[in-house]
Amino acid sequence: MMTLLLGLLALSGLCALLALLLEAANTVFADYGPCQVSINEGAKEFTVKGGGRLLSTLMDHGLFIPSACGGRGSCGLCKVKVLEGAGPILPTETPYMSEEELRNGIRLSCQVRIRRNIRIEIPEAFFLIKEYRTQVISLKPLTPFIKEVHLKLLEPSEIVFKPGQFIQFQVPEYPGSSEPVYRAYSIASPARLKTEIKLVITRVERGIATTYVHNFLKEGDEVLINGPYGDFYLRHSDRYMIMIGTGSGLAPLMSILYQMADEHIDRPCTLYFGVKSRKDLFYQDEIQELLQKLPRLRYVPVLSDPLPEDHWDGETGYVTDAVARDVTDGSQMEAYLCGNPLMINAAVKLLTAKGVTEDRIFFDKFG
Ligand SMILES: Cc1cc2nc3c(=O)[nH]c(=O)nc-3n(C[C@H](O)[C@H](O)[C@H](O)COP(=O)(O)OP(=O)(O)OC[C@H]3O[C@@H](n4cnc5c(N)ncnc54)[C@H](O)[C@@H]3O)c2cc1C
Ligand code: FES
Repeated sequence: MMTLLLGLLALSGLCALLALLLEAANTVFADYGPCQVSINEGAKEFTVKGGGRLLSTLMDHGLFIPSACGGRGSCGLCKVKVLEGAGPILPTETPYMSEEELRNGIRLSCQVRIRRNIRIEIPEAFFLIKEYRTQVISLKPLTPFIKEVHLKLLEPSEIVFKPGQFIQFQVPEYPGSSEPVYRAYSIASPARLKTEIKLVITRVERGIATTYVHNFLKEGDEVLINGPYGDFYLRHSDRYMIMIGTGSGLAPLMSILYQMADEHIDRPCTLYFGVKSRKDLFYQDEIQELLQKLPRLRYVPVLSDPLPEDHWDGETGYVTDAVARDVTDGSQMEAYLCGNPLMINAAVKLLTAKGVTEDRIFFDKFG
């Protein structure tokens, strides 16, 4: 048994090494000559040196495709329809594809290399996604692990987005990364403020982008962002809303709540905010102001590990425990979830068991 296991391990190691070598050889030696990229039956066309990845090639030509993992093949968002010219589908793509998508030529653009002329089709809405030059107005610690990054838009000077959406933040080359990388961050500020945006960024141990933001980024620095992206936004209905955020997952929920206050959308809504202890709670004054403006909003902070000095007499446990205690019949409810994937998986399971139908549960997983 042990020999078989060792053999399998060695084989998969060899396969990974071969894949790496192939990739390296492809980058260094392969010459595919000029290739033509044609989008939406010629609505946009350009010629590129073959060998590059479709997602980054499109970005280089001002076309931004939704992507939350910066091209690592782990978010499944960067789908485009390839009519002609992509090679066979890769094992890295198939986990993100439905049977129908596979039949229709849908591909992950970050995994497709341009090796010959290629024809693709993208939704018109993607033409509206732009790159913005921005400047850091302020960097504010909100908790020991979370920073608010306040950006002023320089060029273009205004952004139009739906509250709940996210942008991609470009981390330039710095001592922690030998090349620029992109990461997704939800917009935490109101959509009425078009000339500036706020992001709320949690430090991740050894994380490329968050180490840059927490240790290297300074006020006055210029940052490139692109967007807006995503289909996490307020649906119009009268249903009772459940909002659940953990940590920086509060960001897009704040933007949605500002929208509700600005547009006088007075729906019954409970906001559950899950963190470890009192020092991890943030935007408490802002939430109090929203409670004044939205009479049917209820706020439930939930601490999973309150400290003795917190003198906490509010809800404790996982944030989903508090939801489980409150909700008896979810059949008329709608839910908006944002934060770490474990919380979201647990919340979806809980809410569906309480009767909230899956088509009424909207979420952005941060991971
Ligand atoms: C739609 C969307 C919106 C997002 N919005 C926000 C936001 O508003 N605020 C925010 O802080 N983040 C947000 N994220 C997460 C963000 O995009 C990055 O994944 C995160 O900041 C880590 O990036 P990094 O480069 O520092 O870490 P990486 O260098 O990408 O990762 C380093 C290591 O840490 C692991 N890791 C990654 N993220 C986490 C995590 N959260 N906790 C623990 N381990 C982790 C990775 O698996 C990897 O092993 C969002 C993600 C998505 C998909
Ligand atoms: S950009 Fe995330 S899978 Fe392609």
